[in-house]
Amino acid sequence: MRALLWFPLLSLLALTLPHLSTTSPTSPTSSSSQRPVIGILSQEVSRYDPTPDAESYIAASYVKFVESAGARVVPVMINQTEEEYKALFYSLNGILLPGGGVSIYSSGYARASKIFYDLAIEANQKGDFFPIWGTCLGFEQLAYLTAQKPVLVNTNTTSVTLPLNFTNEAKGSRMFQDFPDELMRALETEALTENSHMWSVSLETYNSNDDLKTFYKVLSTNTDGRTEFISTWEAYDYPIYGVQWHPEKNPFEWTRAYYAHSSNAVKVTFYFANFFVNEARKSVHSFESEEAVRKLLIYRHSQTYAGDQRPFEQIYYF
Ligand SMILES: *[C@@H]1O[C@H](CO)[C@@H](O)[C@H](O)[C@H]1NC(C)=O
Ligand SMILES: *[C@@H]1O[C@H](CO)[C@@H](O)[C@H](O)[C@H]1NC(C)=O
Ligand SMILES: *[C@@H]1O[C@H](CO)[C@@H](O)[C@H](O)[C@H]1NC(C)=O
Repeated sequence: MRALLWFPLLSLLALTLPHLSTTSPTSPTSSSSQRPVIGILSQEVSRYDPTPDAESYIAASYVKFVESAGARVVPVMINQTEEEYKALFYSLNGILLPGGGVSIYSSGYARASKIFYDLAIEANQKGDFFPIWGTCLGFEQLAYLTAQKPVLVNTNTTSVTLPLNFTNEAKGSRMFQDFPDELMRALETEALTENSHMWSVSLETYNSNDDLKTFYKVLSTNTDGRTEFISTWEAYDYPIYGVQWHPEKNPFEWTRAYYAHSSNAVKVTFYFANFFVNEARKSVHSFESEEAVRKLLIYRHSQTYAGDQRPFEQIYYF
């Protein structure tokens, strides 16, 4: 009798006090999907970094990219234990692998990427949705993780802004489904995508590699005049996305004259950020409590001005 009385009361409480649900990851009233938390992977500092004491960094533009579409960011540090990464994986709603200059084979960035990638493959296969976004180095890292062998070729693409060459698959893709036709035309005709890479996955490599071909759908390509390479892809069966170019630079980075800052350039950035954050909203992972996530948020860290030494205006150093 008492149990019968209490049951609807408790349900009512759970409904009217949504903040309570954050303490219970399995609660059907969990509001985590409207409060996505995305991990951004850090990487080893380079010799150009102005902060000799720091061991790792995240360029602030990646944080702004994610925040601009309504997600909060937790920095994912390198050199954590597998258990620590696993706990984070089941708390985060997605992870972004940023661009940069470290090894995709032997760095702390490479190690953490592999752990998250393997966990994401396993989870997604079980219907536990977890998106991964790779930008530039992150794209190359995804290629290596999927192919399980080096697949990159050298291209002359270290400092050039290009229009995208869409494949026939782009129109029906998940990544571009919400892009207005006008913006698709702009992407195709205006130089809106900034390339800062010397390595690429050539179309030739892709076409001769079954692991890549069956896993990723190519949505756009580009060429350096000699080699046609993949600039945007999405996995067929997983929420895994890669861009070889830099959507986060258009609104947030100013150190190079060839970065695109037009209204269309900034719209492109926002549509991609919105797409990725929407993917993260589908993940039901959550932190144990709001307190637990607040302890880890990027808000706890300060940005450093780095625009005189690095191609990033601001950097989080750890
Ligand atoms: C990561 O581990 C390596 C090797 O143990 C060490 O040299 C490096 O300083 C560590 N980096 C961080 C950020 O902890
Ligand atoms: C590399 O590309 C740039 C244009 O982006 C061009 O000016 C330069 O000549 C190219 N270099 C080589 C070696 O092809
Ligand atoms: C687009 O792809 C075609 C066919 O592969 C190629 O001939 C052309 O050069 C590419 N254009 C650009 C801008 O990358």
